[in-house]
Amino acid sequence: MISEDQILNARILIVDDDRVGVKLLDEIIRKAGFKNVRTTTNSTEAIALFEEIQPDLLILDLWMPELTGFDIMAKLATAYPDRFLPIVVLSHDADQQIHYQALESGAKDFLNKPYDRVEVMIRFRNVIEAHLLHLQVHQHNKMLEDQVAERTRQLSDAQLDVITRLARAIEYRDSETGFHIIRMSRFSACLAHAVGVSELECDQILRAAPLHDIGKIGIPDSILQKPGALTDDEWTMMKSHTTIGAELLSGSQSEFMEVARTIALTHHEKWDGSGYPRGLKGEEIPLVGRICGLCDVFDALVTARPYKGAWGLDQTLDEIRKGRGKHFDPALTDTFVDILPEILEIHQKYNDAQEN
Ligand SMILES: [Fe+2]
Ligand SMILES: [Fe+2]
Repeated sequence: MISEDQILNARILIVDDDRVGVKLLDEIIRKAGFKNVRTTTNSTEAIALFEEIQPDLLILDLWMPELTGFDIMAKLATAYPDRFLPIVVLSHDADQQIHYQALESGAKDFLNKPYDRVEVMIRFRNVIEAHLLHLQVHQHNKMLEDQVAERTRQLSDAQLDVITRLARAIEYRDSETGFHIIRMSRFSACLAHAVGVSELECDQILRAAPLHDIGKIGIPDSILQKPGALTDDEWTMMKSHTTIGAELLSGSQSEFMEVARTIALTHHEKWDGSGYPRGLKGEEIPLVGRICGLCDVFDALVTARPYKGAWGLDQTLDEIRKGRGKHFDPALTDTFVDILPEILEIHQKYNDAQEN
């Protein structure tokens, strides 16, 4: 509802080249209790004033030198295509065709000069009220949209949080640190972005990559934590973490889960076909698998693990370059080297040392 106070505080703009007419109208309106009235007799000022004041009522003379009321309405309609324009046109024209034309051009009402003082104020109030109601609905919709956006963001943060914790639970058994999965998923999103993957997909990669090793939940501790070399059978079992992970993540309707499934299944495939579980070659390996595979290896090499010290950056990069076209997609390898400063920044930010 619109209160009387809101109506009387409405912003009103009068544009009419007839000085006497403007003065008279201004008086009538102020006498009726309205406080915010601006006037101009110069039609060329109308648009700028409209923009400045954002009036709840524009009283517009039709026939003025330079810009006519029609010109002004046309400009406003172009500038504010989705807006309710609270325009009342004033004119001496008795011609019905002109009335129609004015109403079709965006005027909400049409008044003939000379006008009846009582009637004119009722009509002004009606247009003001309609405009204020329109603004109210618009603000309400905007508030609802903001609330939905905020709730969506919260849900999405909660999803990332749950995924990261779930992934950490798995990696703990594997003597990884929690920061490995954060780093490798951020490297992956960064690399994906650099090769032109869409924002939405980069975000999906960021959220899905932490689950790349979730299949390790199905691998016994005796294998996962074995200090020495694995036997052939143990190695076969170890490799099945890819298919177990894909199995765990399959069957969902969600696009995100499908990305997670693909990453879990293909992050150990190699460009030359020597990877597992399916020995896919080149672009047979889904892009997300190639991206996450590279970033997973890079982080494993450059970070200290209980069974190995951290490799220096040069040594790590040598190893990555050596894998170009063998283990890794050559184009991705090149881009990865190009964006190394960004990668190192992420590595620095999510350093293991923070965990202790
Ligand atoms: Fe893995
Ligand atoms: Fe990993």
